[in-house]
Parts: sequence; structure tokens; C-alpha cells
Amino acid sequence: MELILDTADTQAIAYFNEYLTLDGVTTNPSIITKSGKDFNVVVNEILAILNDEQDLYVQVLSTTCADIVEEAKYIASLRKDNPERMYVKVPVSNEGLKAIKEIKKLGIKVLATAIYTAEQGFLAALSGADALAPYVNRMCNFGDGVANTIALQNMLDINMMEAKIVAASFKNTDQVHKLIENGIQAVTVPTDVLTNMMNHPATDTAVDAFTADWKKAYGRTSLV
Ligand code: E4P
Repeated sequence: MELILDTADTQAIAYFNEYLTLDGVTTNPSIITKSGKDFNVVVNEILAILNDEQDLYVQVLSTTCADIVEEAKYIASLRKDNPERMYVKVPVSNEGLKAIKEIKKLGIKVLATAIYTAEQGFLAALSGADALAPYVNRMCNFGDGVANTIALQNMLDINMMEAKIVAASFKNTDQVHKLIENGIQAVTVPTDVLTNMMNHPATDTAVDAFTADWKKAYGRTSLV
């Protein structure tokens, strides 16, 4: 399973990259704006942190097929030395679905995003999307986001389709937990959810007790 970080905060990317094994970083226009930086600046800063095996996902903003394709070409050009690791994110609007077919003809990797139903994800996979981002938490406003993401996974499996699900839009660890338990291929999680996945106060309490016992017995806080 792939663990992806859903942020354009370069400090956070560097931090989690140090402590965890990340498969990449996802962004969207809203996430980019939160960085407070120019689009090209933040993309290049993220690329400077990622290694050659880590994926970067960057989303188009245009809404017509022709313009989406132009933006996809531009996004792809930002990592032309490593095209396998650069995904263009395209929302699954009607124009987006049309654009996905065109972008795939150019050999650019595509993640279909803003997926709110299993059917939308399935249609994007039929259009050639390499990856699919169901918006798990946002889907919960319309039903069960976790169950619908698992349904999409079953649709792909039963039809032997290769598109990878990159489950997105998480608001709590339970949503991530349930999808990992059900064999999801990839999750992209925001920093707050990932922090909660990593940390438990009882772990720190346990470590503090080990240290205190050792210090009491041997007068030091290391093994040797
Ligand atoms: C992926 O990058 C998605 O755009 C993102 O997970 C959406 O998350 P949100 O629903 O918290 O905005």
C-alpha cells in the first residue's frame, strides 16, 4: 500500500519524509493556495524534497477539455526528467473525462479526482485514468464514503482494471484505518490525520517509564 501526504506545506513534507516512508505528495488548487507561495515556486520546492521514486500529483484548474489538456502538458513539463512520477490531477467533470482520454494519448500520467461516486471513478478508469481519487470524507455527506470507495475497488478488481485508487479527503484516522484494512492501494492523508495515525500519548508515557526505571537503576538514560 502507498502512503501519500496531502499537503503543499514543504516543512511538513520534509518532516514526515524524515520519519515515515512516503510514496509521494498530492496537492490541489486549494492546498497550493494555502502554501501562500507562487505555484511554480511551491511545486519546485516540493520536487526538491522528493526523491526519484516519490510521486507528485498536481491538479489542473481549467474546466474545458482543451484548456485542461494545455495545463496537463504544462504540469507534466515541470518534471519532464521523471514523467513516471508526475501525475496530473483532473476532476471528473464531463470535460475532465474527455480531457483524460486526450491527456493519456500524450503519455502523461493522470489521476482522476473529485470523485464522489464509485460510478464516476469507474468511468474515469474506463477513460484511461491511471489513478482515481475518491473523496472519502466528502462522500460521507451523500452516503458512506468508505463503503463507496470499497465498492469502487471491487468494481476495478472484478473487471481486472489496473487503475490505482488513491483514496483522498480524509478527516479522521478511522476512515483511513477501514480502507487499509480492506486492501486499498493508496491513501493520501493530510498532516493532522497522519499525526494522529503516528502518535499515541500512551506510547510517550511508556517510553518515559522505561527511561525513569533505567535511570533509577543505572543512573543514565541510555543502554550503555
Ligand atoms: C487530494 O489531493 C484531494 O484533493 C484532497 O484530499 C481533498 O481533501 P479535502 O476534502 O479535505 O479538501
